[in-house]
Amino acid sequence: MDFNKKAPVLITCGRGLVPFLKAEVEAAGFSVDSEHDTGLTLTGTLTDTMRLNLKLRTAFNVLYQLDHFDCTDTEHLYRLIGRFPWENVVPPDGYLSVVSQASTQAIDNTMFLNQKVKDAIVDRLRKVNGKRPDAGPDRDRTVINVYWNRDKVWVYANTSGEKLSDRSYRKLPYKAPLQESLAAAILLAAGYSGEQPLVNPMCGSGTLAIEAALIATGRAPGLLRSNFGIKHLVGFDSDMWDELRKQIRKEGGKDLKFPIIATDIDKQAIAAARKNAQTAGVDQLIEFSVCDFADTPLPSNPGLIVMNPEYGMRLGEIRELEGTYKRIGDFFKQKAAGWRGCLFTGNLELAKRIGLRTSRRIPMFNADIECRLLCYEMYEGTRKTKNPS
Ligand SMILES: C[S@@+](CC[C@H](N)C(=O)[O-])C[C@H]1O[C@@H](n2cnc3c(N)ncnc32)[C@H](O)[C@@H]1O
Repeated sequence: MDFNKKAPVLITCGRGLVPFLKAEVEAAGFSVDSEHDTGLTLTGTLTDTMRLNLKLRTAFNVLYQLDHFDCTDTEHLYRLIGRFPWENVVPPDGYLSVVSQASTQAIDNTMFLNQKVKDAIVDRLRKVNGKRPDAGPDRDRTVINVYWNRDKVWVYANTSGEKLSDRSYRKLPYKAPLQESLAAAILLAAGYSGEQPLVNPMCGSGTLAIEAALIATGRAPGLLRSNFGIKHLVGFDSDMWDELRKQIRKEGGKDLKFPIIATDIDKQAIAAARKNAQTAGVDQLIEFSVCDFADTPLPSNPGLIVMNPEYGMRLGEIRELEGTYKRIGDFFKQKAAGWRGCLFTGNLELAKRIGLRTSRRIPMFNADIECRLLCYEMYEGTRKTKNPS
């Protein structure tokens, strides 16, 4: 493949995260052509996608457009997919996986669509190369994404392969962990840049604290991972890739200026968080301890408190959590004057127990659960409101 040919690049993310992804993409020097509910597009080369894969914190997949055509039925699709020069994309001894989404009357079963696309590619490769590649569901080698909307089809090389949110540091996920890309978006939305202390009570498996350490030191999350879809495309240049990784490693590598403190009442959670931080190479940057959230030590220089308490849908009892949420409000009010407190929750009824007026309410989705990031400014003398929003 020509790694310098420009084409549309679709970058996908979780619902609600597009503004944060857009800010990251622009900070990386790209301009955005269009925004969608769960992603955005820009124009770029396969070489550009290398940089995007290594740097982006809030993205799921970086998809490079190979083809786009009108299509009305599956036999037509088979012929149109089969005319594409797949021998320039999939290595002869490769392994292929197809991921598709359809919103068309032509098909109601994406398994069948995956199969049809895979057959078209494999049949073409058998004709041209004299042998067929292996194919299956694993996304650790060449991954092709197909979107079929009404009578329009888009075909992409998935340059990420596995989702970028799988950073590979979370060997011990513990209970109800946040997806890494969502944790990064929460921190960026809360205004975290490493220029103030960060305190993360109820840290669970440590995702927020680990992502904070990566942000504060400018470390690109993709450097934690060795495998990406782009490495399994014909024409991939491993020397260029190694050079780019070195350059991006140099661009980061800032010292941590302010402390990152992570606590949890459960010592097994802290053991898991420590282990995960170790795998991510940031354990020496985070001060872990076991305690009730309200006993978390706050540095004298105010900064940001970020909390992700259970919200009673999957874990914990609502009645018990009412008391916990009220205590979080008391903690913010009584111990955190001058700090910004941000709470990520999927239960807005429970959030009312905080009893403080929000300064920002940012909608985000945790899988399919609609959540909010609620931020509170704790000025000296912040008062409880009579009718908290
Ligand atoms: C939803 S989990 C946090 C998940 C975390 N964001 C992650 O990505 O792994 C909530 C955490 O709050 C902790 N927790 C519950 N009650 C607590 C309390 N009173 N003080 C401190 N931690 C508490 C639980 O042990 C659990 O680890």
